[in-house]
Amino acid sequence: MALATETKRLVAQFEYTDEDVNIGVKEFLRQLDEGLSKNGSSMSQIPTYVTAVPNGTEKGLYLAVDLGGTNLRVCSVRLNGDNSFNLTYSKAAIPKALMVAKTSRELFQFIAQNIETFIKTHHYDHYEHHIRRRETMSNPEGYRDEAILRLGFTFSFPVRQVGINKGYLIRWTKGFDIPDAIGKDVCALLQDEINLLHLPVKVAALVNDTVGTLMARSYTSPGKTGALLGAIFGTGTNGAYIEKLSSIKKELEGVYDDSTGEMVINTEWGSFDNQLNVLPTTTFDVKLDLESVNPGIQMFEKRVSGMFLGEILRVVLVSLLQDKSVQLFHDDNSSHNDWKSTTTIAPESGIFKKWGLDSAIMSVAALDNTPDLGTLRQELDSQLDVYSPSMEDAQAFKAIACAIGRRAARLSAVAVGGIVLQSGKLTDPAYADQPIDVGVDGSLVEHYPHFRTMMHDALKAIDGIGEAGAERIRIGIAKDGSGVGAALIALVAQRMEEKQPTAIESMQQVRSELSLKNLGAIDEAVVPDAAV
Ligand code: BGC
Repeated sequence: MALATETKRLVAQFEYTDEDVNIGVKEFLRQLDEGLSKNGSSMSQIPTYVTAVPNGTEKGLYLAVDLGGTNLRVCSVRLNGDNSFNLTYSKAAIPKALMVAKTSRELFQFIAQNIETFIKTHHYDHYEHHIRRRETMSNPEGYRDEAILRLGFTFSFPVRQVGINKGYLIRWTKGFDIPDAIGKDVCALLQDEINLLHLPVKVAALVNDTVGTLMARSYTSPGKTGALLGAIFGTGTNGAYIEKLSSIKKELEGVYDDSTGEMVINTEWGSFDNQLNVLPTTTFDVKLDLESVNPGIQMFEKRVSGMFLGEILRVVLVSLLQDKSVQLFHDDNSSHNDWKSTTTIAPESGIFKKWGLDSAIMSVAALDNTPDLGTLRQELDSQLDVYSPSMEDAQAFKAIACAIGRRAARLSAVAVGGIVLQSGKLTDPAYADQPIDVGVDGSLVEHYPHFRTMMHDALKAIDGIGEAGAERIRIGIAKDGSGVGAALIALVAQRMEEKQPTAIESMQQVRSELSLKNLGAIDEAVVPDAAV
């Protein structure tokens, strides 16, 4: 009984009402605008220099590397030009030691080695062709880069991007902590290691996973108006959306094509409301934050994403276990247990270890609707070393886990709803009756039961969206954003390279613009080789 009462009290702490959602959206829009106006604000609102989304007709073979939160993925993508693609990929777990290595070289070396293995396995022709070229480099034609594979580098951390393949790391998130890399150009770090292995690969584009998701969604499901937002709800959380250039008031330092009047912005909403103006904060959130590698940062992410939900739950369970008046995972004798056994929790249970509770068990809890919660109880036993948990234990676990999951889904609606309102599309007659397309990816949105439904329910409660508006918001899974999306941006980068005038063309253009024709011909011999 004491356990049930205490559970109720805890569940109430994770309640996030319709009113809270609306207060959250208001503040989200304020901080979003602040990020468009100046650098150094809570939400970084990073300009990506990508000013158009694809329409599905793009073609070519590209490589993509995705350094996410947990895994490294290397893949090649053949874009077929008809909204379809073929993808080959390999995946490796990122060794924990590399996430907190002394220098970033160890991590980037690991990535380059994985690229090497991938090319040798799946694109040996390119590899061999390139090796042969190196051997014949002395011929008068010199070295050409036909065999070079262009690579889109999905680097899912906050980066100050100053060009399509140049960006300086602002801070690590998701448990990574390699101080040496902060402030460095991550594309150059990777290219250096690739060059040391003599691989025929050029890091052509730097892509946040959310931008990739937006691109992939636009490529595979083009509507009349294209996708508005790409969002990740996985190990971490973030979103990238299309913003009007006229609303970006801070200085844009990189080169870009302004013909569309729009640019993709990487919001870095994981850091929305780091100052905790409106985010719900329980004592458990405070404890988790204090014990994280980046206290005070990514405060929205720490309440929403998969990496943290299991840890919040674990912290709550530890507090319950410490309270002797509440008998969680403990009973006096077998007569109190409907499985006629006694419950014990092993000292080595993940519940007693930091990060020891994998969020995946929260999905099991949410899904188990059997009368005796048998599936969840088995899972508690096999994953968390709780021997013979009682029905009351499982009920408490399920109720608290679901409350944490529901709060996360409703908070996610604050971000998605905020972006929809910011776009003005719901009230713009040009988009009347058009769906507002949102591509999402990540373990949480894919595997956590009813995450999207809970998000949708909260969207309906937002002033300015309502039932009718929420109906128009189409949230669809966009898998492979970091593969296909990165490939698409590598393609954009290649087009930009091709479009870039050679030095001679530039000089001729300058000459004609300045009407300096009378100065005579430009001496082509003075044009440096590298620039041609
Ligand atoms: C990073 C973002 C990334 C998100 C999802 C966050 O921790 O800061 O750059 O997009 O995780 O992977």
